[in-house]
Amino acid sequence: MTEHRTRVEVGIVGGGPAGLMTALLLKRRGISAAVIETRTKDTIHHTQRAGILEAATVNMLLDAEVGSRVLTSGHEHEGTVLSFDGEQHRIDFQALVGRSVWLYPQNEVFFDLANAWEREGGEIHWAVTDTQVHGVETAAPRISFTDAAGQERSIEADLIVGTDGSRSMCRKLIPEQVRTDHFISYPFAWFGILCEAPPTAPELIYANSELGFALISQRNETVQRMYFQCDPDTDPQSWSEDAIFDHIQAVLGTEGGVQLKRGPIIEKTVLPFRSYVCDPLSHGRLALAGDAGHTVPPTGAKGLNLAFADVRALVPCVEEFITELRADRAETGTGTGPGGTGTGGTESGDTGSGIETPAALRRYSRTALDRVWKAQNFSYWATNLLHRQPEENPFTHRRRRGEFDAITGSVYGQAYFADSYTGWSD
Ligand code: DHB
Repeated sequence: MTEHRTRVEVGIVGGGPAGLMTALLLKRRGISAAVIETRTKDTIHHTQRAGILEAATVNMLLDAEVGSRVLTSGHEHEGTVLSFDGEQHRIDFQALVGRSVWLYPQNEVFFDLANAWEREGGEIHWAVTDTQVHGVETAAPRISFTDAAGQERSIEADLIVGTDGSRSMCRKLIPEQVRTDHFISYPFAWFGILCEAPPTAPELIYANSELGFALISQRNETVQRMYFQCDPDTDPQSWSEDAIFDHIQAVLGTEGGVQLKRGPIIEKTVLPFRSYVCDPLSHGRLALAGDAGHTVPPTGAKGLNLAFADVRALVPCVEEFITELRADRAETGTGTGPGGTGTGGTESGDTGSGIETPAALRRYSRTALDRVWKAQNFSYWATNLLHRQPEENPFTHRRRRGEFDAITGSVYGQAYFADSYTGWSD
């Protein structure tokens, strides 16, 4: 069988929200892109994801003309509630920092982006196998794969963008001698449920008690999303419906506090926790974005928002690189472009043996990582503020109460939380 070859300027490995948003924004700037994805569109659409979008994420969707469903089926949240030992404090985002967040499931963001890309005739291959990325340290990188119909294909490009999620294969193409993997694990996980019930409260509730963490989130008028802290090796089937709701109610407080609305549980999952950052996010003709480059624990729902912040930083840098490349090709006809033969636009510093990383892509890595570390800090901090550690004593819990009071008891503390949660301006 002969291999089917296509050529684009940017080949994108991973058709989740980060990859699709990159593809759409590049297309809007006249840059050709093609996307491959190992999962089916249906699988991604029906995998539960976090439900909170920062204002900047919503603005990107609106600017790319993919945001209409967020406005019609999403809900603007102008604040959130922090609950400690049953005592509640509202953080008023609008009053504190003039921004809101939107409740809209991130798997629906994916669906909107995928539909837009397909509607506009963008090249995408779902359910591919045998993916390999070749030559990221050369001027002619290439993706090879077998498509869902069994056809062997290859996509030749000037640049590869790796948006292939937390188990990224693209990340490993950055040689170990130039890559630092920053990683920590946590001694707990989240037990997530979807249930058929009305909303318990108008806004999200992040709660801590001596029993640990719980989060009351929402999906719509009839389906709700909730989480509570559990052991990483918990079997979701080992918890009965009553035990789950009794536990969440106990974290919220049983006297005078919020009364949990219960209903049939339609999904139970255990979500692992980790913090990871890959440094740098670019190498040769490869750039990583989203979970491929970094993973945060779920507290605060930063994952997709951070992926979109990467894309905001990446797209202008890719445009600059492609523009230089086109100009260079028109002038010399060599086709190697910036970073190819020591022409303008490169910086020294690579210790890998291949092509130098174009300056614009190095700048992308630096800009994106600055925000990534702010988000890593917030997700880590909020996780530790709201979770119970395996070894606790009365001091640990009382100290956490002090930290909680320092946040909720002053507008400065509240503003810190609001600024981080709603997403710092770029
Ligand atoms: C949701 C998930 C989160 O991690 C979070 O911080 C807020 C909401 C959710 O799934 O709705």
